[in-house]
Amino acid sequence: MSYVDAQPAGSIPIDLVKRDNFAAWQARLSAPARAWVKAGNFRAEPDQHVWLPDENGNPARVAVGYDGSDTNITLGSLAMRLAEGVYHLTSCPGPQTLIGWGLGAYQFTVYKKAKRPPAQLVLNSSDGSYIRHTVEAMALARDLINTPASDMLPTHLAEAAQNLAARFGARSRVIVGDDLLTAGHRTIHAVGRASADAPRLIDIAWGKPENPAVVLVGKGICFDSGGLDIKPAAGMRSMKKDMGGAATALGLACLIMAENLPVCLRVLIPAAENAISSNAYRPGDVIRSYNGRTIEIDNTDAEGRLVLCDALALAAEAEPRLIVDFATLTGAARAAVGAEIGAMFSNNTEIADAIYAAGRRDEDDVWRMPLHQPYKAMLESSIADTVNSASSPYAGAITAALFLEQFIGQIPWVHFDIMAFNTRTRPAHPEGGEAMGLRAVFKYLRETYGG
Ligand code: BES
Ligand code: ZN
Ligand code: ZN
Repeated sequence: MSYVDAQPAGSIPIDLVKRDNFAAWQARLSAPARAWVKAGNFRAEPDQHVWLPDENGNPARVAVGYDGSDTNITLGSLAMRLAEGVYHLTSCPGPQTLIGWGLGAYQFTVYKKAKRPPAQLVLNSSDGSYIRHTVEAMALARDLINTPASDMLPTHLAEAAQNLAARFGARSRVIVGDDLLTAGHRTIHAVGRASADAPRLIDIAWGKPENPAVVLVGKGICFDSGGLDIKPAAGMRSMKKDMGGAATALGLACLIMAENLPVCLRVLIPAAENAISSNAYRPGDVIRSYNGRTIEIDNTDAEGRLVLCDALALAAEAEPRLIVDFATLTGAARAAVGAEIGAMFSNNTEIADAIYAAGRRDEDDVWRMPLHQPYKAMLESSIADTVNSASSPYAGAITAALFLEQFIGQIPWVHFDIMAFNTRTRPAHPEGGEAMGLRAVFKYLRETYGG
């Protein structure tokens, strides 16, 4: 862990130096300290730090650039840049600043030893447990995404979900393999049946029934080969992360339960490997989905929306107050907003606006895209109620979202089409698996339902 509760003797102070006060601050330093600042090219910019000496010339404290805002960036690289040891802040910045430290300390150490232990920060703010819970929820999601498909097949994903449920005393149920057919979840079965590891639907329930019902749904494609419409090598290379939506939903559930939000939570994870075998589903097949709509398969690589549609229809059946889904659904969303912003769709403007604002404050950026109804024409099939992939090469993220909307009815719904992966290291965002939209939705839920 990159935080400690109590300040040990010898803990090293960190001063946050406001960029606007830089000249005045520098003027107050001793001549040798000023020389260190100059040599370190320190200008109190965000993501900059410099060591300062004591009167004997030994490194004694750290100055960190600070623009005055509460942001993950300020301390987001320090845990891995400062030498191992315990540090404490000499001022009390906001929670996002403190969360940045923990997010930046993350390392995925299952298959390779940690480069080094992170530096540790003394955390005694009143928000301490919220900060730890947030960092822990993000680490859970990141670990799940970073784990390769060989160790993160539907069996493993279900196990991880059930472990999480058990930790918080939540109920869980998993429908596996052919039982999906009996339960009416034919799309999840079709997508996952070619894998040696059977597809399944994970269903977790937590919280008091009298609280407002919120359902989280996550795309849990443990590996996306594309199916018979096989992906080219470059595109397939990153597809262990195709369960990033499931990881994000589980991370968010972890935070909701740890913070004991007054909601009645349900988490639905359709988990499957989109594999190739003689029993794989084919282009041209027609599948009857859980809510009765028939779907003609145009492309087996548009599998995410197929596993999601059965889970969303099941979610909608119980008429919850809100359904939120997370999915690494389309390359088109990445073309539209890039790898570092979540594409958000919603049938409810008030909720979308509130989540957008929450994301801005917590540096979990999302951007709303339109559910442009006329594009539904691109989803027409000549022999079924809909096709799974649009006839046009344009607006792929929108047509995917419109496909999902067919299974939601009138329930307030938010859909995130996310990257779930940092392609480069930024402060608080090490390269690798990433939960996107998790903190924005958590903030929205807390603001709306309290707790
Ligand atoms: N998992 C992919 C989408 C994806 C690709 C997400 C790259 C993030 C990065 C999804 O299952 C897929 O293959 N989508 C197709 C849909 C198409 C066949 C309609 C796509 O986006 O090309
Ligand atoms: Zn695909
Ligand atoms: Zn996919």
